[in-house]
Amino acid sequence: MAFETILTETRGKVGLITLNRPQALNALNSTLLGEVNQALDAFEADQNIGCIVITGSEKAFAAGADIKEMAELTYPHTYMADFFSGWEKVSGRRKPMIAAVAGFALGGGCEFAMMCDFIIAADNAKFGQPEIKLGVMPGMGGTQRLTRLIGRAKAMEMCLTGRMMGAEEAERSGLVARVVPLADLINDALKTADTIASMSLPIAMMTKETINRADEVSLSEGIRFERRLFHAMFATADQKEGMTAFVGKRSPEFKNG
Ligand code: HXC
Repeated sequence: MAFETILTETRGKVGLITLNRPQALNALNSTLLGEVNQALDAFEADQNIGCIVITGSEKAFAAGADIKEMAELTYPHTYMADFFSGWEKVSGRRKPMIAAVAGFALGGGCEFAMMCDFIIAADNAKFGQPEIKLGVMPGMGGTQRLTRLIGRAKAMEMCLTGRMMGAEEAERSGLVARVVPLADLINDALKTADTIASMSLPIAMMTKETINRADEVSLSEGIRFERRLFHAMFATADQKEGMTAFVGKRSPEFKNG
C-alpha cells in the first residue's frame, strides 16, 4: 500500500510500520493517524502476520501530536469531533505490537509508544510529556498509561515539568522493556517480534488480552479472567502441539488453531 506519512512492509510473519514525516520529526497529524489505522487494519486481517513493529527515524520516533494542526482548534470542534478518539482504535488492537523507539518520543509520540504492548528503546531515546509547556496536558492516554507504567510520583513530575527522560532512566522506571544500542534497534525489535510471531497467535492474543485486563479490574477478577482463558486454551490444537512437542523433545509447529 502507498501511504503519504508512513512506510509499511512485511518481514516474514512481522508487519513493520515506519513513521515517515522527517520534515516534522514524525509529528502525528490526522493523515498519519488514518494511515496507521489502515496499515494496522491490513496487518490484523492478514493471517500470516503474528506481530507488528512500529518505529520512527533515528532522530525521532515522534515529536508529538502535530502542534501546527492543533494550534487553531476550538473547544466545540475538539469536543464534537471527539478529537484524538481515533487513537483508541490504535490502542485497542488485538495482535501484539512493539514500539521500537529511537530519538524523541514526546507528547503524543510517547503516548503512541505506550499504546504498544511494550517498548524497545535505542540508547538515544528521549521520552517526555511536554504538553504543559504548550498550555495543555497529555490527551492520548499519557496521564493514565504513564502513571500505570512508572508510578504516580514520576508521572506527576514528568507531566508537570515537561522534562525529558533518557533511555536508561526509562528502563529503570519500567517505561521500556529493554534498551539496545541505536544501531541494533530495528534488528532487535524485528527479532523479538519474530519470536512472538513464531508462537501460537491465538494464545499470544489471549495473553495480551489477559495482561491488559490487569489495568482494568481487581486482582481477584483479573485472576479469574486469567484462569477462564487458561482453561479455554486447552480447547486449542496449539496447546496439544506445544505440550506434545515438549514431551517428544522437538520444536512445536503451531497452526494458530
Ligand atoms: C509539529 C513539529 C513538532 C510537533 C517538531 N516539529 N515537533 N511540528 N508538531 N509536535 C517540527 C518543527 O516545527 C520543525 O519544523 C521540524 O519539526 C524540526 O524541529 P526542530 O524543533 O527544528 O528540531 P530540534 O531543534 O532538533 O528540536 C527537536 C524537539 C522540538 C526538541 C523535539 O522539535 C520540540 O520541542 N518539538 C515539540 C515537542 C512537543 O511539544 N511535543 C508535544 C506536542 S503536544 P520547521 O518547519 O520549523 O522546520 C502532544 C499531545 C497533545 O503531543 C495532547 C493534548 C491536546
